[in-house]
Amino acid sequence: MREKFSSRLGFLLISAGCAVGLGNVWRFPYITGVYGGAAFVLIYLLFLLLLGLPIMVMEFSVGRASQKSVASSFRILQPNGTKWHRAGYVAIAGNYILMMFYTTVGGWMLAYFYKIVKGELANASAQQIGDAFTSMLADPAQQVFWMIVVIVIGFLVCSRGLQNGVEKVSKYMMSCLFIVMIILVIRSVTLDGAIDGLSFYLVPDFAKMAENGIWNAVFAALGQAFFTLSIGIGSLAIFGSYLGKERSLLQESVNVTLLDTTVALVAGLIIFPACFSFGVNPGDGPGLVFVTLPNIFNEMAMGRLWGSLFFVFMSFAALTTIIAVFENILSITMDLSGCSRKKAVIINFLLIMILSLPCALGFNIWSFIQPLGAGSTIQDLEDFIVSNNLLPLGSVIYLLFCTRRYGWGWNNFKEEANTGKGWKVPDAIRFYVSYILPLIVCFIFYQGYYTKFPQPWNIILPTIILGAVLSIPVISKQKAKKEGALHE
Ligand code: ALA
Repeated sequence: MREKFSSRLGFLLISAGCAVGLGNVWRFPYITGVYGGAAFVLIYLLFLLLLGLPIMVMEFSVGRASQKSVASSFRILQPNGTKWHRAGYVAIAGNYILMMFYTTVGGWMLAYFYKIVKGELANASAQQIGDAFTSMLADPAQQVFWMIVVIVIGFLVCSRGLQNGVEKVSKYMMSCLFIVMIILVIRSVTLDGAIDGLSFYLVPDFAKMAENGIWNAVFAALGQAFFTLSIGIGSLAIFGSYLGKERSLLQESVNVTLLDTTVALVAGLIIFPACFSFGVNPGDGPGLVFVTLPNIFNEMAMGRLWGSLFFVFMSFAALTTIIAVFENILSITMDLSGCSRKKAVIINFLLIMILSLPCALGFNIWSFIQPLGAGSTIQDLEDFIVSNNLLPLGSVIYLLFCTRRYGWGWNNFKEEANTGKGWKVPDAIRFYVSYILPLIVCFIFYQGYYTKFPQPWNIILPTIILGAVLSIPVISKQKAKKEGALHE
């Protein structure tokens, strides 16, 4: 018998915990800073609604109907003889590669929490704070140590099972995260000069957004919508599989998206007023939370307290995602091999540790490996593979699987999504999710290559990859027709 959540709140907080992560508290604020604030936020919210939400409903539906992880869910629901299950391998790769860099960045958050509590950065000059981040990256022992701490915490929690481990700890961490978030936001918006930060963040200025290119901003917002919800690789689908049938899945997806969005928006409410209050530029990119903010904490009264709380917030956001994705990985291993949870924990603990090494070492002893051009790191490559490839391509597969007769089909999808109390998926969106949304997602996928690779590779490479992925539905269509196994 498959273990179920002990409560609806458990499901909501774990799913939100999976979505709420570094994407919300680290990536969202710095991208918003780079693209000029409120105008970017508006576009991002629009994409969450138009793009993220429907795909999330599909993931939850496939999970709940199949009662399995992404390793077997397509196989269970696909028409006889079709090949959709091959997409499961792409999704499995997505979960592992996401963790290959997430464990390292999660480790940075824990490391900074420790450094600030210990007072290591207290009284440091701006130069010294910048150097502290660079030297942490340059030190392989520190990188690997914190990465291992993160992996140990994640698997310890998961080893205790769904209800006793993952659900209990995620509920606790998410509740703490909300409380700390409220405390920090009150501190930040009441700083002198906070109002300028609020207007940067809340009053749209499209001219400012255009300074770094309108299209760049639009695509950054699209990519962020995928990343923040972690859709397309089945990392949410698993929580559908642990869910009862009492509530409709559109309603639950709206709740999860709202929780995720609230955390991202509030992270901005913490960071931008503080930046403006202390006269620092919020557009400094990825170093924002590790360099800019520690400087601000040093200037603040009781800065060590605020700094520590801030990195508790960051660490919990990262850990809830890591625990959720580890749970998915364990479930995949158990589905595929039939082994016990304990065995799955041991195997994956070793596997993830080895797989995380390239990222951790890519900032120091392997920094000569610059896979995406001068100055790039192994982490950039892993992030590119997940964010620009596996999330969008996996999403296209979910979209086609849930809308095509040679897949699971619209009617099956709709019936599952609409089972239970709450909002229902309307037929009115069928054309949009069947044809327009897959095209938009393919467009985003091409754009990812367009900006990163020289011609003609920026066309050839994505075409080969997209062709390989789309061969799954194409072959499935032929097989389903041959077998007379089309769904309604
Ligand atoms: N959804 C996760 C995040 O935002 C991957 O960090």
